[in-house]
Amino acid sequence: MSPSTMTILLFFVALILSLIAAAFSKPKHKKLPPGPLALPVIGHLHMLGNLPHRSLQHLAKKYGPIMSIRLGNVRAILVSSPKAAKLFLKTHDANFASRPRVQASEHLAYGTMGLVFAEYGPYWRHVRKLCTLELLCPSKAEAFAPLRREEIGLLVLSLKKAGEGGEVVDVTNKIYGLNEDITYRMIFGCAVDDGRFGLKDIVQEATLLTGAFNIADFVPFLGPFDFQGLTKRLKKVSKTIDQLLEKIIDEREQVANTRSWKQGQHEDFVDVLLSLMNQPLNPNDEQVHFLDRTNVKAILLDMITAAFDTSATSIVWSLAELLRHPRIMKNLQEELQSVVGMDRMVEESDLPKLDYLSMVVKESFRLHPVAPLLVPRESIEDITIDGYDIPKKSRIIVNIWSIGRDPNVWSENVEEFFPERFMNINIGLRGHDFQLIPFGSGRRGCPGMQLGLTTVRLVLAQLVHCFNWELPNGLLPQHLDMSEDFGLSLSKVKHLLAKPTYRLI
Ligand code: HEM
Repeated sequence: MSPSTMTILLFFVALILSLIAAAFSKPKHKKLPPGPLALPVIGHLHMLGNLPHRSLQHLAKKYGPIMSIRLGNVRAILVSSPKAAKLFLKTHDANFASRPRVQASEHLAYGTMGLVFAEYGPYWRHVRKLCTLELLCPSKAEAFAPLRREEIGLLVLSLKKAGEGGEVVDVTNKIYGLNEDITYRMIFGCAVDDGRFGLKDIVQEATLLTGAFNIADFVPFLGPFDFQGLTKRLKKVSKTIDQLLEKIIDEREQVANTRSWKQGQHEDFVDVLLSLMNQPLNPNDEQVHFLDRTNVKAILLDMITAAFDTSATSIVWSLAELLRHPRIMKNLQEELQSVVGMDRMVEESDLPKLDYLSMVVKESFRLHPVAPLLVPRESIEDITIDGYDIPKKSRIIVNIWSIGRDPNVWSENVEEFFPERFMNINIGLRGHDFQLIPFGSGRRGCPGMQLGLTTVRLVLAQLVHCFNWELPNGLLPQHLDMSEDFGLSLSKVKHLLAKPTYRLI
């Protein structure tokens, strides 16, 4: 029998078995949230399409803000309104603070040894505290200011040169390159842009694979067939990443052997992690956790992937919207001119005074949230919410892309990029206003928010302040392609191309 005949046969056997099981099983949960009829075996997987956030928005319009679907064997609860999001991420946050085990994290995050996909519990708590203290807290974010200034300065110089030569610049590449250098310097203490490591493409592939709905996660018996080819790609990427991280750690250990860790001079994040290796993370707890080499690799990789393209993706969307809306670009340039002046670049200390910039960034997050479905959560216990029974181990998907376009929350022109909607209303980005939660909320909310927001605001302000931008080949602003590419982060399919002209005196 050929492998394909075997696959079809297996599929039908599974189909018949699941139909029999469904017919004879008693419903375990009295009242699940509403949802469409499911197909045997795959449930609603076929309904997700290439842009799941859009398909799920469409379904939520019919079935409501708390909806239930089945992705293969997995019960998924879709949350699509600010009120519902508050119930799941604030009122009952503790019950939804875990993450599901997925193939991507098994391959890429060394099981659940990192932070992003770690199960809710003492290990996650200790690692999160460690990363916050050593890399992400406001004082650390501030300490990286000179590094950001230096890297952004280099970008401005290269754009100025390109502008003088009348070149069309691939702005997407420039912004990702900048963010990559900033991230590596923060984590590794040095630039990693000399091609020795080549992490950039690998990290982008990892982000894409982590966001994909992998059939193997939902219908495990189909996993070995790898119909989508995702497992093969995951294995390839994870092997390359592991080799690279090993190389980086090896180099560091060699350097460390030539000096004393205890001196604590110029310690960067890798140094800190290596200095903690094989020591108890939590000496006072009942179950003691140690950081070994694998944990260190997993944490490093999580920090790189979490920081790497989130900020860059946001900056590209914001600048693209500004290029599509010359009126808003002009308003922002005028604000920068009056607050900063035309004789110098933007400093981080200017940011709190730039109110219009802050509105532009909020509006961009509303329409283009980097993580449109947040990062999936998993329910820890059975619970009843808003009269619905939510079973233990359900996958919780919060569609913030859809919340950002909810006409009940925002005014009628929900699709329009209109920063002024934030004028005179107090909506922050810190996860307390559930109509706008680009960084998530609650226990698993983004710990890198301060760092990410500073980078997004500063880079965007600098690009708009230092340059006038023109679309190439007479392209009209309204014709700029804004198509989306779905992964763990939602990026712009087409690279943003534009001609810069230096405008400072
Ligand atoms: C514009 C920039 C960024 C955006 C929009 C963003 C967004 C998010 C979102 C939506 C989540 C999931 C939250 C949830 O489940 O409720 C998240 C988690 C996370 N983010 Fe960010 N992020 C950004 C920048 C960063 C940076 C710079 C770092 C630093 C390394 C970072 C580290 C993390 C980590 C470690 C998690 C997982 C936290 C956990 O599971 O406990 N993020 N981020």
